[in-house]
Amino acid sequence: MNHILDAEGMEREWLEELFNRTDNFAANKKSLLNKQQGKIVATIFYEPSTRTRFSFEAAIGHLGATNVSSEAAGAFSSAKKGESIEDTIQTMDGYVDAIVMRHGDDDSAHRAAKVSAVPIINAGSGSTHHPTQALLDMYTIQQLLGQIDGAKIAFGGDLVMGRTANTLAKAIASMYKGITMYGINPEGKGFDEDVINYIKKQGAWFREVEDFRQLPKDLDIIYQTRPQEERYTDGQAVPRVLAINNDVMTHFGDSTYIMHPLPRVEGERSEIHKEVDCDPRAKYFQQSNNGFLVRTTLIDQILER
Ligand code: NCD
Repeated sequence: MNHILDAEGMEREWLEELFNRTDNFAANKKSLLNKQQGKIVATIFYEPSTRTRFSFEAAIGHLGATNVSSEAAGAFSSAKKGESIEDTIQTMDGYVDAIVMRHGDDDSAHRAAKVSAVPIINAGSGSTHHPTQALLDMYTIQQLLGQIDGAKIAFGGDLVMGRTANTLAKAIASMYKGITMYGINPEGKGFDEDVINYIKKQGAWFREVEDFRQLPKDLDIIYQTRPQEERYTDGQAVPRVLAINNDVMTHFGDSTYIMHPLPRVEGERSEIHKEVDCDPRAKYFQQSNNGFLVRTTLIDQILER
């Protein structure tokens, strides 16, 4: 079964094939139009989403497949009546050819995959996994740098609860060579020890810094993230997030690109000030556009098997 659950389950050969297919699709948008007519794909979202859900649903629509969807599954599915993930999945897999699911529990996608007769695509589980975001992030990095081997990447924002940074760091470290990674950690709340150990074990070089200005000027990518306020429910303090503004960007060269999975915090507390949007090194909207391309190709590949 070709589930997409986490970074650990990815292989470079498969990834390169996916990126080649995505390049082909980007160059000829008609090539996948209505290719999966007659197939049905469920999108079940227990947590809010803009980019992930709409890009998946746009992808399913482009492929000509039918989409059955719950955008607030916690309130509108039988989860509200206390039904387990397992029972929901064992019901849905009788209706559809693949299931895209986002849920607040770290192990939700893995639990779903254990009982599912159709592929499970994890669209975000708890604070740990967001594999399809990592796919579009890596695709974007490859577009920007030409290749990912040898990349120098710094992760900023909320590295404790941020599933996007955690998944991307692990995926890149495990599949690419000569990787240098930094965690921006101003107050002792960075990546979990387990994540750092995993990254190092895969052969990536890793160091923590306290400020953007301690990073090399020829850094390739700054991957910034939002403080995950909604995940600190037990009184734990939300990590302090250092903001990127035009002044911070003067420290870096012309080819240090800024990425962010979005959404960002608006206003004065924003982790990327709006003024940075005009900087040619700001690539977060290119990144979100790639979500449609990569997810269309991914769904097509999964339904093909
Ligand atoms: C992220 C998520 O849901 O984890 N958004 C996304 O999928 N693009 C990031 C976030 O919510 O901070």
